[in-house]
Amino acid sequence: MPAHVAIIMDGNGRWARRQNLGRIEGHKQGRQAVETVVDTCREVGIAYLTLYAFSTENWQRPVTEVRALMALLQRYLRSERQHMLEKNIRLRAIGDLQRLPVPVRAALEEIMQATQANTGLTVCLALSYGAREEIVQAARVLATAVQNGQLDPGDITEQAFARALWTTDIPDPDFLIRTSGEFRLSNFLLWQSAYAELYVSETLWPDFTRAEFLSALEVYQSRERRFGRTTEQRGSPPDLARATRG
Ligand code: IPE
Ligand code: IPE
Ligand code: MG
Repeated sequence: MPAHVAIIMDGNGRWARRQNLGRIEGHKQGRQAVETVVDTCREVGIAYLTLYAFSTENWQRPVTEVRALMALLQRYLRSERQHMLEKNIRLRAIGDLQRLPVPVRAALEEIMQATQANTGLTVCLALSYGAREEIVQAARVLATAVQNGQLDPGDITEQAFARALWTTDIPDPDFLIRTSGEFRLSNFLLWQSAYAELYVSETLWPDFTRAEFLSALEVYQSRERRFGRTTEQRGSPPDLARATRG
């Protein structure tokens, strides 16, 4: 089983259009699929699930859609709080959370605090998330530490850089799923996905089922992860920093 599954939940708008509904209805319907993958991760023992829910670029959508998405997010958080506590789920969030409406951020922060000590599945929501922004932000953190004399430039290793990312203590995703048939990353976990296995499903996110998730996990299990080595040498991920030094 992958330790960390990351999902680009795409296709809500197209799902709605096919049903002759407005885009917002597609986002509402997408919630069912979120609950399904969360439950399935718990069932099969996946430790981390990262869900791309709203990108930096998504702020450019029509104001009405952005507002509706934020309202749905708030409703989701409010109604899932108890479930997360009961199911031993730990909630995390990555992204420029300062940009989120105050009530959404407050709800997020409260639940992250309340579920902090939970030891089951970690659900990480990527909200107002952009990987390039995350990387630039990490560079700024490290540059400031150097400027303040707290860090030597020679100590900026891959490990130090990874620690300065929003995903700081979350392991890299092993398996990255995108629904709706698009073959692109759309600014999602660019650093962290260096060796993720990719899987594109034609299914639109609201139609993504437990059965399809399980069959995707079977595909993952059939992949050979070589991390740059040969089939004969295959094993655990190499120390990328050491690989660079040769
Ligand atoms: C994914 O569905 C949800 C978000 C990006 C918030 P879309 O809204 O992108 O759906 P399509 O791609 O238009 O079908
Ligand atoms: C990616 O989907 C972001 C989320 C799923 C939250 P988009 O629908 O925004 O991506 P593009 O615009 O098709 O690349
Ligand atoms: Mg889309």
